[in-house]
Amino acid sequence: MTHATIRRSSSGCALLGAALLLAAIPAARAQDASSTAEQTIAAMTRIFGDHPGKRSNHAKGVVVEGSFTPSKDAATLSKASVFSGAAVPVTVRFSDATGLPQIPDGAPEANPHGLSIKFKPADGAEMDVVTNSLKFFPVATGEDFRDLLVAITRSGPDAPKPTPVEQFMAAHPAAPKALATARTPSSFGRQVYNGVNAFVLVDAAGKRNPFRYRIVPVDGEEILSADEAKAKGPNYLVEEMPARLAKAPVAFRVEAQIAQPGDATKDSTIPWPEDRRFVDLGTLTLTRAVPDSETAEKALLFMPNNLPDGVEVSDDPLIDARVQAYAISFGRRSQ
Ligand code: HEM
Repeated sequence: MTHATIRRSSSGCALLGAALLLAAIPAARAQDASSTAEQTIAAMTRIFGDHPGKRSNHAKGVVVEGSFTPSKDAATLSKASVFSGAAVPVTVRFSDATGLPQIPDGAPEANPHGLSIKFKPADGAEMDVVTNSLKFFPVATGEDFRDLLVAITRSGPDAPKPTPVEQFMAAHPAAPKALATARTPSSFGRQVYNGVNAFVLVDAAGKRNPFRYRIVPVDGEEILSADEAKAKGPNYLVEEMPARLAKAPVAFRVEAQIAQPGDATKDSTIPWPEDRRFVDLGTLTLTRAVPDSETAEKALLFMPNNLPDGVEVSDDPLIDARVQAYAISFGRRSQ
């Protein structure tokens, strides 16, 4: 797949774009696999191709390191050691969407970008936070995500109108709205990332606060126009981050948007109102690129349910759908 082919796609997101990228594809056999997660990975492989050793989604990325310094408020909301006061070492991977390891960073299909953080406190109570640059998610369940991917596999250039993916979008109005929130930044360090799924902070007295992560660049968000993104080199994001870190640290504020009673925790297609309280949980300060990012990312696995005592999953069904799909992808790319 060439850079030019990707550029010709007119859609604003990976999944819609992927539909346009498809050559004539034989009827999908994704449904033949046994679990929803396996069907999901099979559909991803059909759309993006098989790239041994690479992630089924977010295949292209760059690994960096630094630390997280919790705020005072963090410890009042959660008893987790990552929020207890001492700075915690972190490993972070920034990524482009799609299972295409060579996707140009400025292509619309490279949206949403990802930010994954592995917190590594001295007591071993690790935590993974896996976020992306969509404001909310296109679908609420793993089954719907699978169905969207399968619809894409059936929407090649010869598919009759309305294509399966057009029908999916019409039946799931949150999906096109969510995908329209994707934006191309000037740097991985100049984009806001969202946790999308709800998790629960649990304090020392057992009080539970459902929340969603928002990770905000201290230098502010800087979004490119379509023309500016098009003019960028194919690796401008993955190359810029190590170059930026060689000059100065890159910092993000890690925030928790706290739910109020009645806010939907099990539907990631519904953003909570902006007036919900955002609590500053601390500052993520990235200081260096790893020497060999490609080797480092192979060994890394970020799991949304890898949580310490003091942070729990909510009733959001997407979390388990993700965990199952990530495990299958990790198994495949580790072979
Ligand atoms: C049912 C919904 C979803 C499915 C099936 C799915 C599937 C996947 C898969 C298979 C991978 C590759 C995992 C690996 O090999 O390590 C992946 C990576 C990733 N996903 Fe998802 N995903 C879903 C939802 C989300 C959501 C809601 C977010 C963010 C809010 C997200 C952000 C990411 C990121 C950032 C990565 C790259 C992780 C890394 O750097 O290693 N995904 N996803």
